[in-house]
Amino acid sequence: MKKILPPPFRIKMVEPIRMTSPEERKSALEEAGYNPFLLSSEDVYIDLLTDSGTGAMSDRQWAGLMMGDESYAGSRNFQNLERKAREIFDYQYVIPAHQGRGAEQVLFPCLIERVKGDKPVFFSNYHFDTTAAHVELNGAKAINTLTPMALDTASWYDWKGDFDLTALEQGIKENGAENVAAIIVTVTCNSAGGQPISMANIKAASEIARANNIPVVIDSARYCENAWFIKQREEGYQDKSIPEIIAEMYSYGDMLTMSAKKDPMVNIGGLLCIRDDEELFRSCQIRCVPMEGFVTYGGLAGRDMEALAIGLDEAMDENMLAYRIGQVEYLGERLREGGVPIQYPTGGHAVFVDAGKMLPHIPGDQFPAHALANELYLESGVRGVEIGSLLLGRDPETGKQKHSPMEFLRLTIPRRVYTNDHMDFVADALVSVYQRRESIKGLTFDYEPPVLRHFTARLKPVE
Ligand code: F0G
Repeated sequence: MKKILPPPFRIKMVEPIRMTSPEERKSALEEAGYNPFLLSSEDVYIDLLTDSGTGAMSDRQWAGLMMGDESYAGSRNFQNLERKAREIFDYQYVIPAHQGRGAEQVLFPCLIERVKGDKPVFFSNYHFDTTAAHVELNGAKAINTLTPMALDTASWYDWKGDFDLTALEQGIKENGAENVAAIIVTVTCNSAGGQPISMANIKAASEIARANNIPVVIDSARYCENAWFIKQREEGYQDKSIPEIIAEMYSYGDMLTMSAKKDPMVNIGGLLCIRDDEELFRSCQIRCVPMEGFVTYGGLAGRDMEALAIGLDEAMDENMLAYRIGQVEYLGERLREGGVPIQYPTGGHAVFVDAGKMLPHIPGDQFPAHALANELYLESGVRGVEIGSLLLGRDPETGKQKHSPMEFLRLTIPRRVYTNDHMDFVADALVSVYQRRESIKGLTFDYEPPVLRHFTARLKPVE
């Protein structure tokens, strides 16, 4: 059995959670239209829906909240945040945003405006769903060029978040470099399983971008976790500190968007930083005011910016990263011991269960990973989330279900929130679901929303 790493914190405040009965869960799920997104959180025992905004802030961060300067303009908390972000990333210009997608909605139209061609595209190792949505809402195309190694869930590969560099170069050629608004490097690659991208691959993607005069955006939700994997796995980084590794990662980018609700452990917050392009910064500032708020608060209270400035520091703590990623690995190993197929090795923030492999009798258009999420909830009150066909949706041209290469149930671990006892409980529950997997049925729609359907769809089990 895997060794447990010692947690680098102790707990001084607790929030009670309530276990429900099987009958309560059955009726809660029926009422929620067989969609865990529509459950009330009161009916959830352990919530593994997301690691976003769900982390436990430290005593220092809570103390920071008390130091909020709620001035509309020029708040000292903004100045602290700006100083900290400049120090870590070495990017000159800092704009706060209410969360990651806030930064995206400010930046992407400014990047598209600069495209010389008339068919703007973005490339990424993998666009997160809101990232792709902001690209598409602004009339551009989002193309993923992820390494095919990510699809082989059973085999160990260190860098399942890497770009397929040949596909990237090919794609740029086919679309014309003059049409490429940006290359987005997503660290870690959430959609592939929180999988890391190597420094060598970031550097190579950046060289391709520079050779073609294309800007590089680093989508930075889980940049510290990515840096930790580089330190563990990539030659030449064992003796480097996490801040040094982060500094090198960002030397290959031109700007960053960040959902600060992940690694920096705030409940709300985001960032947009730009290395040195003053003209781009000015146009982002102009968009920021009507979309997010004045340029020194971007949708955040002063106190939120203070908690974020502190969180940026704490997120780089190596003991915390080792413990956190170790906890994810611990859950993954417990599941593997019970026979449950997962994306292997586990990534930074979640265990991705390979529901396609576990439930081969359920076709993609009956949503195997969503069916598994429901079954796990009924078994134990644990809420996970589907990353597969339901999320992917239909082809807008043909109206047909798009083929998803991956059918994952994501068990996302909030930071500093659950203990390994909770992980054991989750593992035991999923292993017993695994043992009766043949009896699990697929799902069909009762109500299918036209866009972003996974959030509000209502479903029912197939007869
Ligand atoms: N980029 C990545 C890689 C993300 O994982 C997310 C959010 C965003 C951007 C958008 O950030 O939510 O602050 O607006 N991911 C969350 C998740 C929601 O559950 O994986 P946001």
